[in-house]
Amino acid sequence: MTPRKTVKDYIRTIADFPHEGIMFRDVTTLFADPRGFRMCVDQMLHPYAGTRIDKVVGLEARGFILGGAIAHQLGTGFVPVRKKGKLPGSVISQGYQLEYGEAIVEVHDDAIQKGETVLIVDDLLATGGTAEAGIGLMQRLGADIVGCAFIIDLPELGGRRKIEALGMDVHVLCE
Ligand code: PRP
Ligand code: ADE
Repeated sequence: MTPRKTVKDYIRTIADFPHEGIMFRDVTTLFADPRGFRMCVDQMLHPYAGTRIDKVVGLEARGFILGGAIAHQLGTGFVPVRKKGKLPGSVISQGYQLEYGEAIVEVHDDAIQKGETVLIVDDLLATGGTAEAGIGLMQRLGADIVGCAFIIDLPELGGRRKIEALGMDVHVLCE
């Protein structure tokens, strides 16, 4: 009998994208496979069984695909954290460091009510800058963050340590 495929088995690696030397972890192959996608969503939620989650918060862009599916499965609402200038309503903004330069993410300032419990999701944790900015936005809105769930952690970039040092529960499916 062939061994059951794991989430990691569905992820494709493309060398030298978007720059030479980067091994790009491409989750489109995971999302495109019905078994792989379901397994991924189920495993991301597993540690939070029995935990109250009012909203799922997805980080642009691949966190939207995951976050929508996870929110649907939980029967909760979904809140997008978007790159600057994309949201139409009144927003709060948070800057963060990229490998080269800086970026800004935003969320609608009425997307979360104070005290609501949220699960933050994205596909990949690299330096942790994007997740840290998303956490900052949620904290400023008074959310109670129950955890941050990712498909992939790139351990050599230190993101997990950075997010755990903020007191967050970090759940990853593979490295
Ligand atoms: C990727 C990934 C995470 C982020 C992780 O998104 O999907 O959101 O990088 O990197 P970090 O931990 O160093 O912040 P990207 O910024 O490429 O944006 P995209 O999903 O909109 O393409
Ligand atoms: N974001 C940052 N580093 C990445 C990588 N190696 N693969 C996919 N997305 C990334």
